[in-house]
Amino acid sequence: MRFPENFIQEVVDRTDIEELIGRYVTLRRTGANLIGRCPFHSEKTPSFTVTPAKKMFFCFGCHAGGSAITFVQKAENLDFADAVEMLANRAGLPLPKESANSARENGVPRKRILEMNLEAAKFFRACLFDPAIGTAGMDYFKRERRLTDATIKHFGLGYAPNSFNSLRDYMRARGYRDDELIAAYLCAKSQKSNTVYDIFRNRVMFPIIDPSGNIVAFGGRVMDDSKPKYLNSSDTPAFNKRKHLFALNFAKNCCAEKMILCEGYMDVIALHAAGFEYAVATLGTAITPDHARVFAKYTKKVIISYDADEAGQNAANKAMRMLGEVGMDVRVLRLNSAKDPDEYIVKFGANRFRQVLEESRTGFEYKAERILSRYDLSVGADKLKASRDLCALIAEYHSPVEREVYLSYASVKLELPTDALRNSVEQAIRKQRREAEAQESREAQASIRHFGDRINSESAQNPRAVAAEETVLGLLLIFEEYRNAVEKGEISLTGEVFMTAFNRRVFERVMTLHGSEAGFRFELLGMDFEPDELGRIEKMEITRQQLSQNGPEVFRSAVESLHEIKKKESMRGEDLNSHLTYLREKKAKLHKGKADTQ
Ligand code: UTP
Ligand code: MN
Repeated sequence: MRFPENFIQEVVDRTDIEELIGRYVTLRRTGANLIGRCPFHSEKTPSFTVTPAKKMFFCFGCHAGGSAITFVQKAENLDFADAVEMLANRAGLPLPKESANSARENGVPRKRILEMNLEAAKFFRACLFDPAIGTAGMDYFKRERRLTDATIKHFGLGYAPNSFNSLRDYMRARGYRDDELIAAYLCAKSQKSNTVYDIFRNRVMFPIIDPSGNIVAFGGRVMDDSKPKYLNSSDTPAFNKRKHLFALNFAKNCCAEKMILCEGYMDVIALHAAGFEYAVATLGTAITPDHARVFAKYTKKVIISYDADEAGQNAANKAMRMLGEVGMDVRVLRLNSAKDPDEYIVKFGANRFRQVLEESRTGFEYKAERILSRYDLSVGADKLKASRDLCALIAEYHSPVEREVYLSYASVKLELPTDALRNSVEQAIRKQRREAEAQESREAQASIRHFGDRINSESAQNPRAVAAEETVLGLLLIFEEYRNAVEKGEISLTGEVFMTAFNRRVFERVMTLHGSEAGFRFELLGMDFEPDELGRIEKMEITRQQLSQNGPEVFRSAVESLHEIKKKESMRGEDLNSHLTYLREKKAKLHKGKADTQ
């Protein structure tokens, strides 16, 4: 969703950037700034700077920079809106109500969509239980997935026939118009033939039910290995996949203490069937700040039970952080010998799963246990290796306090003195830094050789123009009075004067924001620029800030040189044009001459 400008500003104002970044980077105060080692590249000497007064950060090494929102975008790999939400959550700011319009997208009200979904769910269920139509689906659920009738009914599962128009015709007969079916994401229109057809075909169907009991969307799974495995409803006025959790309608009544977060529909169904009715899953998307807030509303503790593969474990790390941000007690399950909870239950049964659940670990414990389980601590050499690995893990934590806590854990587990371990941790920190630096310099060299300037790709052809443009922009970013002067036309400057498209875009955005009700604030550029681009923009600002000469005469003369460069460029264009005209005339004469002689 797009947030109003003043909301974005409030989120930034209410965020303590020092505290936020301090969670990732150990910061040291130097005058008005804080410095530390950049979390976005590796370096020996700290060049990462946070300026609390400006609520900005900038790294002089890798030129990452921007607002608190940019920082979260980069650190958590989120898009702008998600980062804004995450910070709003932290600051306890309620999100602005979505505009009344969005509830009636395409003119089809939410209520009408819910009605259609209910009809469709009835239809899919009837098809599943109809031996003439639904045998394939029923066989799949019962034989392949070992679901009972009770579970199938409990979840309202269904089957979408292998046909392009069976749901459409069923719904038409009940008075639903084609445009309504399309708005509900039950049907789509073919561009070529202009016909309306069913989206879900030959799939087993999972209705998605919100906490109030409305069917808001569907997921549909193929019954073989074809792709895509799952098809999910796109967002509609009734459904937002970034918010909804599968089976929350059951889980919310089950247990206020904890919920299990899984990756898939089938994991949730298997868990519920085995008695763990507090399991939920996101729907074809990674967990978002919205989901985190939903959890915070219904429960205190979330136990993440993602797939055992690399992707699942990475996703678990992300979920851990996201849920931590809203104050959840987060635990992670580690399942041995099964790829996901569904398979685990099928293989080992509910009791074994309950045991694992009770032993669920905090983030650090979960990783530490993974390491310890690889070694036999009664063997000296193994114990050494275990301590090395454990120290490397502890070294990854940026906060010294956290490291101390984990050191005492390691000391107990390994029966080794804390001081000895602390030394190894410090060694590990240095080693990790060296390795990261080597990697960084390899990457930097590769990027110099192959890519050049990725942010302003025209800078190599226009070095002089870029220098002047960046001076002008840097000053405009810092000083409101220059923006005013440009706005009022006291200084003649328009986007056309900029030679490079990137800088032109920056100029135009800055001036548009300046003229808007909210006014210009750096963080608002985040709506239109990527984090890397924001780093470049912040660099222009910082570069100017470090110079003492920033008076109006500097600004005027930089603007003038922009005009001059532009003029020269267009003259070159004119030269070229007159030259071309000359060539054309010459050619025409030649032709004429030939024609004459023939
Ligand atoms: P998985 O591939 O782990 O599937 O995707 P699963 O739920 O375990 O299903 P089974 O056990 O193979 O039948 C996890 C979740 O990711 C989403 C779905 O929400 C799925 O439940 N997903 C997966 C999609 O949306 N589309 C896909 O093509 C695949
Ligand atoms: Mn699975």
